[in-house]
Amino acid sequence: MTSTPDLLMNNGVTMPALGFGVFQSSPEETAAAVETALRVGYRHIDTAAAYFNERQVGEGIRRSGVDRADVFVETKVWVSDYGYDTTLHAFDKAARKLGVDQLDLLILHQPAPDRFDQTIAAYQALETLLADGKVRAIGVSNFMPHHLDELLKQTTIVPAVNQIELHPYFAQPEVQRADAEHGILTQAWSPIGGITFYPGWGEHRRNVLDDPTIGAIAAEHGKSPAQVMLRWQLQHGRSAIPKSTNPGRIAENFDVFDFELTADQVASMDALDTGVRNGPDPDVARPEMFARVIPED
Ligand code: A2P
Repeated sequence: MTSTPDLLMNNGVTMPALGFGVFQSSPEETAAAVETALRVGYRHIDTAAAYFNERQVGEGIRRSGVDRADVFVETKVWVSDYGYDTTLHAFDKAARKLGVDQLDLLILHQPAPDRFDQTIAAYQALETLLADGKVRAIGVSNFMPHHLDELLKQTTIVPAVNQIELHPYFAQPEVQRADAEHGILTQAWSPIGGITFYPGWGEHRRNVLDDPTIGAIAAEHGKSPAQVMLRWQLQHGRSAIPKSTNPGRIAENFDVFDFELTADQVASMDALDTGVRNGPDPDVARPEMFARVIPED
């Protein structure tokens, strides 16, 4: 099989399980990477206003020659645009940069713990965008179970997706459980553990790509550690959005549909969870994140 399976979201819309990520892809590299990904077979691109490369994602989609209707386009509203009216406007900004009329999935980038009322208002704007047909699905990212509980108390539509840091060294089982209980699809960011080795994200991290258990499983299948991690994500029923700007690795990360992990292999990867987060803690207020302004164009 050379195409990614679809996942059914709680609103009846389907999403290609394996998407293409562009976090930390520079604007110069992004259009070429997206074009390559679509030519290889990816049909789902995940970006964010705060990545400052939505324009280049749109350009890559157009350059690829793949029909817009055949690509699942996902982006995120940044916290400085939270609030009802500003989030409605954030849709306009994103759609204009991406060059699309409708988004397939629009999610809140993260909770703003010290301005949760604005986070709720932003989500209410997503509900309006959904009702108006501007977006096909809405969701959240980096929401912990207590954020979900609070959101569900104050809003009407259950998020379709919660995108969270999720790789073998940090699998967040309690968040996955809460997502499942609410019928929310869990989507993995840094699905091959890029956050465990990105430069500048903290010392003393262990690179999950070098993990001996994963290396041994990869050798048994004649596959790479990254491919084994993506299989692990997909066999758990999650969406995953690996990032690469390297054409060889873009193709490698999509070549994961010709093998299957055994239940024991999946279990031994599940056992690697350290419970230690590598990315930012969604419960810690970081006032500087509001200083990042999303431009109009
Ligand atoms: P590059 O863009 O040079 O390929 P994640 O999506 O889990 O955050 O991982 C992204 C990181 O992993 C990037 O640094 C990316 O670098 C690297 N990467 C992507 N695919 C592979 C792969 N198949 N093998 C090793 N590293 C990879």
